[in-house]
Amino acid sequence: MGLMEALIFLCKGQFWRMAVFWTVSLILSYLQLFSQTHLSRKSKLFDRCSSISSSAIRKPICIITGSYLILVVGKSDGLSSNGDIKLPCQSPVIDEIVGSSQADVFDTLKSATLRLWIKFNSKTSTTTVLALLDRVTWYLLPVQATSGLGAAVSYALAKEGYCVILAGRSLHSLSKVASEIKEQIDDACVKAFQVDLSSYKSILSFKHSLQQWLLDSDLHCSVQLLINNAGILATSYRVTTEQCDQMVSTNYIGPFCLTKLLLPLLEQSPIPSRVVNVTSFTHRNVSSMEVTRETISGQWFSKLSSYPYAHVYEYSKLCLLLFTYELHRQVGLAEKSHSVSVIAADPGVVKTNIMREIPSCLSWLAFFVLKLLGLLQSPEVGITSVLDAVHAPPETSGVYFFGGNGRTLRSSQLSYNSKLAKDLWDASSQIFLERQLASRDTT
Ligand SMILES: NC(=O)c1ccc[n+]([C@@H]2O[C@H](COP(=O)([O-])OP(=O)(O)OC[C@H]3O[C@@H](n4cnc5c(N)ncnc54)[C@H](OP(=O)(O)O)[C@@H]3O)[C@@H](O)[C@H]2O)c1
Repeated sequence: MGLMEALIFLCKGQFWRMAVFWTVSLILSYLQLFSQTHLSRKSKLFDRCSSISSSAIRKPICIITGSYLILVVGKSDGLSSNGDIKLPCQSPVIDEIVGSSQADVFDTLKSATLRLWIKFNSKTSTTTVLALLDRVTWYLLPVQATSGLGAAVSYALAKEGYCVILAGRSLHSLSKVASEIKEQIDDACVKAFQVDLSSYKSILSFKHSLQQWLLDSDLHCSVQLLINNAGILATSYRVTTEQCDQMVSTNYIGPFCLTKLLLPLLEQSPIPSRVVNVTSFTHRNVSSMEVTRETISGQWFSKLSSYPYAHVYEYSKLCLLLFTYELHRQVGLAEKSHSVSVIAADPGVVKTNIMREIPSCLSWLAFFVLKLLGLLQSPEVGITSVLDAVHAPPETSGVYFFGGNGRTLRSSQLSYNSKLAKDLWDASSQIFLERQLASRDTT
């Protein structure tokens, strides 16, 4: 994105909502954590327990949505095949994060190099440079430190002996994560499945493939852990095939449908099973919420003159939190599923690719300021709250982990509104039912 686009972005209220409100809500979360831990005796710490040591199960299964490793440029030979061009490959532009799949990386790399080349060698034509670039060998190094939260959690859980099922949009990208984990952990069990959380059809087909794979393998036909991690921060309104807003679909409706479909497999587990929903402190900025068909499908946001992306993100994360608490209540009521617990985890601010749709100079600036404030974490540190949620004792349910070290926090007041949560549950279940019926009609 160019400077002009960054300036236009900077002039929008949503950017400032993100820059100011989100930072304030993050700081308030840490202050609340500090006062809980150091000033009051009310805080509850959860010791980690190993929920996976059981003779009833050989390898517990963990499904995690959304994992990738970003490829960064490690080295380039810098010479085209005719040997007379030295490419400016060591430029900081190219040493930055450049994509999530090999094809992505090559494309970004080519255009970044092209831009630099034209800047420094204005006499060379674009076509000539492109032709030369095609003949250059790039060496790419996958670097764990630049992964999203999903890959970092997957690695940690594979190390603990979980059989990790990676579920995401790009099989190519997931395979990269899988092979990286297998390279580092000798007996790792990792399997990748394609799923697009913004499509019910795709979620259903994932469930069928997973069930078939479980039947074909020598593993117990159940799921012990589901981590709803995938999420996006989309800066424009995009409509899915099911006529929903893509951000709301990916961040809330998709995880809702996936959890509903996988609940029988979680309930079949001979050991206590768990759902972990990865939410965000940004939910604190939603002060009121109306549950209607139009709001929970996100269609309502398309009616506004400009897409309130920061608000939609906050809203989707609040929905996920309300869903967490309501599911916790529902499984508590149903006797057969007393062994399924539901927990929310908030990683704080982590340097990942979540801001990929924000102009890169602005996301760089945001990360820089957050780093100066001591609020920015690496994925390896950011996942501690998710791992706390995974390791909390089986009877722990309906809580919100934040800040690591087994610490929980109270989420926003609105998130504990049980009437709102029930309304949201009913409206979401209606959407789920309609999609189930529609998918039966088409099969
Ligand atoms: N980073 C933070 O500061 C932060 C703070 C609080 C909460 N969180 C939450 O943490 C979770 C992980 O975020 P992250 O920071 O690791 O972001 P990220 O680096 O952008 O990773 C998000 C993952 O979600 C996947 N995804 C996106 N749309 C999908 C879809 N329709 N179907 C399946 N997978 C999809 C992406 O896969 P593709 O490669 O296919 O796009 C990617 O692997 C998100 O829920 C986010 O909201 C992050």
